Amino acid sequence: MSKNKNNQPIWGNRINKGSKNIFEKVGGSLKIDKRLYHEDILASSVHVEMLFKQKIIDFKIKNKIIWGLKRIKNEIIKKKFSFDEKLEDIHMNIEKRLFDLIGDEAGYIHTARSRNDQVITDFKIWIKKATNQIVKNLDSTINLTLKNANKNIETIMPGFTHLKNAQPVSFAHYLMAYVEMFSRDKKRFLNNIDNLNENPLGVAALTGTSYNIDRFYTSKKLNFKRPTKNSIDTVSDRDFVLDFLFSCSTCAIHISRIAEELIIWNSDAFRLISLNDKIVTGSSIMPQKKNPDPLEYLRGKTGILFGNLFAMLTILKGLPLSYFKDLQDDKELVFNSFDQLKTSLIILNDVLKNFIVNKKRMYQLAEKGYLTATDLSDYMVRELKYPFRKAYKQTVKIVNYAEKKHKKLSELRIEEINLIEPKLKKDVLKVFDLKYSINSKTSYGGTSFENIKKMIKSYKNKYD
Ligand code: ARG
Repeated sequence: MSKNKNNQPIWGNRINKGSKNIFEKVGGSLKIDKRLYHEDILASSVHVEMLFKQKIIDFKIKNKIIWGLKRIKNEIIKKKFSFDEKLEDIHMNIEKRLFDLIGDEAGYIHTARSRNDQVITDFKIWIKKATNQIVKNLDSTINLTLKNANKNIETIMPGFTHLKNAQPVSFAHYLMAYVEMFSRDKKRFLNNIDNLNENPLGVAALTGTSYNIDRFYTSKKLNFKRPTKNSIDTVSDRDFVLDFLFSCSTCAIHISRIAEELIIWNSDAFRLISLNDKIVTGSSIMPQKKNPDPLEYLRGKTGILFGNLFAMLTILKGLPLSYFKDLQDDKELVFNSFDQLKTSLIILNDVLKNFIVNKKRMYQLAEKGYLTATDLSDYMVRELKYPFRKAYKQTVKIVNYAEKKHKKLSELRIEEINLIEPKLKKDVLKVFDLKYSINSKTSYGGTSFENIKKMIKSYKNKYD
């Protein structure tokens, strides 16, 4: 290996370039992948320990390299490391510095490996850590949503379909729907860990190696469960990148849905909630405005995360095996999605601490739009033994009558109802009560207060 003078790339002797070209400027990835320095040094140290254990390098060389790597890590942490973009990426920067520090023996570090396995080893370690971070943020989101739910078990609101008032529900039930979504997100991220736990290190460029390496040893030391099975697949595979980007996108969908709901509920037309001054912004021209910008930010960023997923899907489509430069962009996409999602979850958590529920208004809205019409049909099925379709038709007539008279269903007298359905007794009037309606929905997963209490409890046991 050359001494690498004048910061020439390591392949400088083979490839003869007279003048600089544009690709030298854009082809590198240092700006992006310097973020992998910690993982790179960790994986290199374990690689070198393994080379020594397998008697591929001797004790003195191993120690020198480990010493050099530690020093490089310190230099980077203390911001004393001088990165050089000409050296393409973080791997070559670290290797080059190792040469400066310990001389030609640094060249032993790259025995039995290639940057192709090196980069994905670093990357898998990084994504595993990022996954655990996102899971922690999701835990806070779930926790805060549960707290809001717990305070609103008996808060009655209209449940919507097509954004039209449908049937009364508990607001806590609504919030618990998001607990389900965020819990699935958490599970989705954690499900990715199994693939991330396969260690690529040692597959080298694509074929494996003729050295007597121990991939099970490096797997154990780097906290992987097992080595990957096929060297060609290993350097080509970016499924673990897609999994991460997809998990981020799905989580972002859920964030965008709650953001959108809160925007609607906070609108002057709905006024079901209001946002604390901590989470609104003003207008440059309209002095009275308090805008829900953070929620719009959350909704908007979802598009960026989808873009990252689609970019990666497109990079991989039709790409032959094994390594190609195309793959280098995977890191930018993942880092960006991670940063965006993490920030979004932090903002959402802030929102969840800073919105006020307008219980009175929720109730008033639930009283509009004949929300208990289905309850009336169900009553006729139960008490008059009508087939559901007949009960439905009778209810339509009663709703039409109420609408004509500008009355709520609860304002109808039994005499008026009997004009349409003579068999109904006064007892029927109870079904028009919103609370009665909610508490009759006792089927598993339904909106009755008792069900909601149980739902919350089942999660609170896990989160308290
Ligand atoms: N910076 C490269 C990447 O992220 C490292 C792998 C380079 N391998 C190669 N054969 N050029 O993809």
